[in-house]
Amino acid sequence: MNGSAVYEDGKAFLASTLQRLIGALKAHSGSLFLFNHENNELVLSAYYNAKGFVLTDIKKKMGEGVAGCAIKVRTPILVKDIDTDPRFNRNGFAHYRGKSFISIPLYTGDHLIGLINITDKDSGEPFTEQDLMFADNELKLLLKKLEDQRTLVAENESLKEKLAGSSCGKFLNITGKHPKMRKIFALVEAVANTRATVLINGESGTGKRLIAHAIHNCDPIEQKKPFVEVSCGALTETLLDSELFGHVKGAFTGAFRDRTGRFELADKGTIFLDEIDSFSLSMQAKLLRVIQDGEFERVGDSKTIKVDIRIIAATNQDLNALIEQGKFRKDLYYRLNIINIALPPLRERVSDIPLLAHDLIGKHSKQLGKDVKEVAGDVMQRFTQYSWPGNIREMENAIERATILAKGQFIGLEDLPDYLTLVEPQLRIESDLTLKVGGESLKSAIKDSEYELIMQALEAAEGSRTKTAQSLGIDRTTLYKKMVSYGMLKVTKGKGKKALALAT
Ligand SMILES: Nc1ncnc2c1ncn2[C@@H]1O[C@H](COP(=O)(O)OP(=O)(O)OP(=O)(O)O)[C@@H](O)[C@H]1O
Ligand SMILES: [Mg+2]
Repeated sequence: MNGSAVYEDGKAFLASTLQRLIGALKAHSGSLFLFNHENNELVLSAYYNAKGFVLTDIKKKMGEGVAGCAIKVRTPILVKDIDTDPRFNRNGFAHYRGKSFISIPLYTGDHLIGLINITDKDSGEPFTEQDLMFADNELKLLLKKLEDQRTLVAENESLKEKLAGSSCGKFLNITGKHPKMRKIFALVEAVANTRATVLINGESGTGKRLIAHAIHNCDPIEQKKPFVEVSCGALTETLLDSELFGHVKGAFTGAFRDRTGRFELADKGTIFLDEIDSFSLSMQAKLLRVIQDGEFERVGDSKTIKVDIRIIAATNQDLNALIEQGKFRKDLYYRLNIINIALPPLRERVSDIPLLAHDLIGKHSKQLGKDVKEVAGDVMQRFTQYSWPGNIREMENAIERATILAKGQFIGLEDLPDYLTLVEPQLRIESDLTLKVGGESLKSAIKDSEYELIMQALEAAEGSRTKTAQSLGIDRTTLYKKMVSYGMLKVTKGKGKKALALAT
């Protein structure tokens, strides 16, 4: 299937939408014209009247009159009374008995697809502005979906070609072609053979751990040196203290023998401090000394140990917010943030989803000894529509589960968890005239736009919630509530607010 084939499918969607609009607006008839770019003409592709009478593929030159005007100004036009409207061109329509009609040009971006005309209400009343807005909104939503689908198919077409080099050379296990990921790969390569401290941040499941490993593995010399990883959030302060710095026998109850800490084990190599945000202030002071002077003492000992360590730290928290709350030292932050790698959430690199799906299926299919190869088209559509709050980890879990359940070579909708299949890609008009496209009511489409708006404002304000709230004209509390409702923030017991998305 290629891009134009999507418009062939699109034609069917447009035609059935037209038919439904005629029913919803209680109109007499309607026609769909598709624009032929080769000979610059509009071709009548479907005509329906209330009785369902259908005419298709009758070629007819159009372009003058109201339709031509609607196309030229790219705006839908409402004609309440043909006889008194000067824009209506009676030429060739002498027999035309209609009174009122709506003419809606169909554009995706700058690309003219065609035009829809809906003629006369059964009641004899003229169409209203509300009728026009209703029809126009529905068509706009459908066109947006068609455009998204076209992009997706175009991407799938070049997928094979892309797959030849889907992983960036040295980053064999990290899939990504999105410009944001390419920049990150370049940064990883640039810092790999340095001893610079790196701070990696990004929402949960975005690949921070993978990147930390890549930094170490990318350089053949560094690769041979020790790489020690500590999940700091998993340990209590006392345990973390002795885990990192070591202790001497008798330092505390249960310290039966001397213990070498992780900093010593990582000497001359790299230590990866994951969840750095969980460091207490006193641990932060000790870490700062290691960074500045390469010095520390084991717990319970007065002998100073010297090390040469490269530090990579990661967090899914907004350290600036923690600094504001007095929970994180500013000087430590500056020391850690020499090189910053900010991993984008999956919803900001949707074009990578087909590649990721392919690679993750390959990985799990191999592990499970199965022959699952790809996802079906409608599954890919769900994948690209879903917001993936748990990012790649969530996608990987869904794919692993689906690979287990899949019966043949393709993952189908039936293999997905329910929350992914609840999205309906078909456009339909409910009996109460609520429009649904891709399972989205207008309300949820508005929510999507609001989400985008907040993300953009946060980006522009470099993560400052105060500035973001100001630029959006809302107060901080409202912004905070909205961010929580969109999953940009989560509230965890005892730990206060956890930023999942952008910095505050
Ligand atoms: N670009 C990628 N290509 C392939 N797999 C990826 C990619 N990014 C992440 N993954 C996979 O997603 C999962 C989560 O990645 P990782 O543990 O690195 O994320 P994280 O950001 O450290 O998450 P958390 O904040 O929850 O610790 C892992 O199974 C990893 O292999
Ligand atoms: Mg991690």
